[in-house]
Amino acid sequence: MNYKEIIEDIHKTVKSGENDGALASYIPELANVDVNKLGIHISTVEGFGFGTGDHLEKFSIQSIVKVLSLSLAFKIVGEDIWKRLDVEPSGTAFNSLSQLELDNGIPRNPFVNAGALVICDILISNLSNPKEEFLRFCQNIANNQELKYSDKITTSEKSVGYRNIALCNFIKSYGNILNDTDIVLDFYFTICSLEMSCQELSRIFLFLADNNFKGADGSQILTLSEAKRINAVMLTCGFYDESGEFAYRVGLPGKSGVGGGIIAIHPGKYCIAVWSPRLNYKGNSYRGMKFLEKFTTKTESSIF
Ligand code: DON
Repeated sequence: MNYKEIIEDIHKTVKSGENDGALASYIPELANVDVNKLGIHISTVEGFGFGTGDHLEKFSIQSIVKVLSLSLAFKIVGEDIWKRLDVEPSGTAFNSLSQLELDNGIPRNPFVNAGALVICDILISNLSNPKEEFLRFCQNIANNQELKYSDKITTSEKSVGYRNIALCNFIKSYGNILNDTDIVLDFYFTICSLEMSCQELSRIFLFLADNNFKGADGSQILTLSEAKRINAVMLTCGFYDESGEFAYRVGLPGKSGVGGGIIAIHPGKYCIAVWSPRLNYKGNSYRGMKFLEKFTTKTESSIF
């Protein structure tokens, strides 16, 4: 498969096509990003890697981090984690409050903000230095490459974090947040601020595509069965109320973030990361979705 040629070709088409949508300006700092950025990078289980456009530029990965926080929490707690949250698609926006009341404070899945906050609470209960240990977990997967949280983005999101503050307090009222809400929110905003390039993202998320993937310390990150489960939740819930559309158009497990990034995993084959900051009205990268639809169509490489 000539991934290089196919990616270069689609990059050209998408770059010259329409760039619809809007920046995630509800986080003030994210409104300062250049809307013309477009980066792509693929990493295969055979060790091939190729990127083009703005693939080396770091951006705010936002909700993509929820896959990493879920992976660590699942590794620590195991199946018992599902006593605190579910694995069902929500059919609602990423920041929705409405289902929580009907579901007695049990979030629908770990990728809506409500579920990600519960995962943060679980990590805080299980780690002595959550921010440092979470970063170390990510860096181990990234072959010890240095990764950084952005104080600027954390502070910016915190200053307007009313919706997440409400969500966290609401879940706590049902007894499903055990730690202090300020501590949970601070950890959540901090991990969402992690910055990575498409190249780094596509390499790090290979752990969900490659059974033989090892961290820098030589250990396996997740068992085959654990990786299967994380990929399943990505397929059904990774794009909120657009998860069905992503599965229909792209046909891969994936996860988006309001920074405009998307990762998509082909288990056994590759991980591809795309970045284009403008979002469609469901909060997913407009050109990122377009790119990936064309990519799996041209390469005939979806999981279906
Ligand atoms: O909590 C928020 O609103 C952001 N930190 C993350 C949201 C996000 O990335 C949703 N993804 N498409």
